[in-house]
Amino acid sequence: MAEILILNGSPRAPRSNSKRYAELFSESCRGQTRYLAVGRDNHQELCGALEGCTDLLLVFPLYADGIPVPLLHALKAFEEQPPKRRPTVSVLINCGFYESEQNDAAVDMVRQFCRQAGFPFGSVLEIGSGEAILDTPFRAMVRGKIKKLARAIETGKHSALRVTMPISRGMFVKASTKYWIRYGAKNGVTAEQMATMQIEGSAPNGK
Ligand SMILES: Cc1cc2nc3c(=O)[nH]c(=O)nc-3n(C[C@H](O)[C@H](O)[C@H](O)COP(=O)(O)O)c2cc1C
Repeated sequence: MAEILILNGSPRAPRSNSKRYAELFSESCRGQTRYLAVGRDNHQELCGALEGCTDLLLVFPLYADGIPVPLLHALKAFEEQPPKRRPTVSVLINCGFYESEQNDAAVDMVRQFCRQAGFPFGSVLEIGSGEAILDTPFRAMVRGKIKKLARAIETGKHSALRVTMPISRGMFVKASTKYWIRYGAKNGVTAEQMATMQIEGSAPNGK
C-alpha cells in the first residue's frame, strides 16, 4: 500500500491554496498520507519523514515561473541527505494565470532534480487559474483531476494531468481584473497603485 508524504511548498502554507489542494488530495487517497509544510528550519524533520514513504507529493504554487525558494532549499537538503530508499516524486502545482502550461517550467525543474538526485519521477497535475478555481462551480473539475492523480500515484500507473477554468481567456482576464481591483479597494490600494513597481512604500531599486 502506498505511503504518501505530502509536502506543502507554499511560502504562505497555513493559509495557502496549496493547503486546500493537499486536503482534497488526502480525502481522495486510499493509501496512508502524512502532511507537512516546508519551513525555513525543518529540513531535518522533512528528511526524516522521507524515510519509509513510497511516494512524495510536492504541492506548491508557481512563483515567477519557477519553484518557490523555500522548496528549492528543501530539495537541496533531500539531495544532500537522501533517504535509504528514494520515494517516487509527484507534483501538484497551481498558478494564478489561466493557462496550466505556465507551470511546465517548474515541473521540468522538479524532473531535473529527480534525474540529478536519483529519485524516480511519477505523476503531475498542473492547475491553471489555481487562485480562483476552488471558489467557483468548476471546483468539481479539480476534484475529479485530484482523484485521478491519487489513483495514478497509488497504482504506480503514472500520468500527466491538467485543469483550468473552462472559460475563454478574455473572460478570465475580465473577471480576474475586477476581482483584484475590488480586493485592492478593500485594502485601500487603487488600480493605478497596483500597476506600479512600488511595494509597501519602496521601489525595487531602493528609492
Ligand atoms: C511572488 C509570487 C510570484 C508568482 N508568480 C506567478 C507566476 O509566475 N505565474 C502565475 O501564473 N502565477 C504566479 N503567482 C500566483 C500564484 O501561483 C497563485 O496565487 C497561487 O494560487 C498561490 O498558491 P498558494 O496559496 O498555495 O501559495 C505568483 C504569486 C506570488 C505571490
